Amino acid sequence: MSINVLFVCLGNICRSPMAEAVFQQMVNDAGLANQITVDSAGTGSWHVGERAHSGTRRVLAQHGIQYNGRARQVTAADMADPDTWIIAMDGDNLRDLEGRYGRHPHTARLLDYAANTQERSVPDPYYTGNFEYVYQLVSDGCHGLLAAILEENNL
Ligand code: 4NP
Repeated sequence: MSINVLFVCLGNICRSPMAEAVFQQMVNDAGLANQITVDSAGTGSWHVGERAHSGTRRVLAQHGIQYNGRARQVTAADMADPDTWIIAMDGDNLRDLEGRYGRHPHTARLLDYAANTQERSVPDPYYTGNFEYVYQLVSDGCHGLLAAILEENNL
């Protein structure tokens, strides 16, 4: 049985691709790549088909992480599996998903899993320009998320 994790933000070019890339790296390093599938998508459609923002790609490269994904929008199929971990970058993302698809039993904000920050929403670097801060927050949240997934699945 495969465990699915879907990171969601607004545009799928800044924050959720960062989370996908960081989390995929952690999963690979833990030797769990054949048990956990990792993806990302946006609630909006403006950037569908585009590469990640240059700021996201630059910061990932600075931390030695490759990312070649293209933006896509969340689909009903994504939300149809109640076991998929739907991990949003902020509360607006969660509200948008719930408004469109109804309540999903397995959703959270990424920073609900973060141990070293009071932030619960990842500030959008599309507006702030601070991609390194996003990397730090996302890494914190991804560590806690992986621990939660390992615990829930007795891995
Ligand atoms: P993201 O950032 O949700 O982290 O990918 C954004 C990207 C694009 C837009 C907003 C946020 N936009 O309005 O086009």
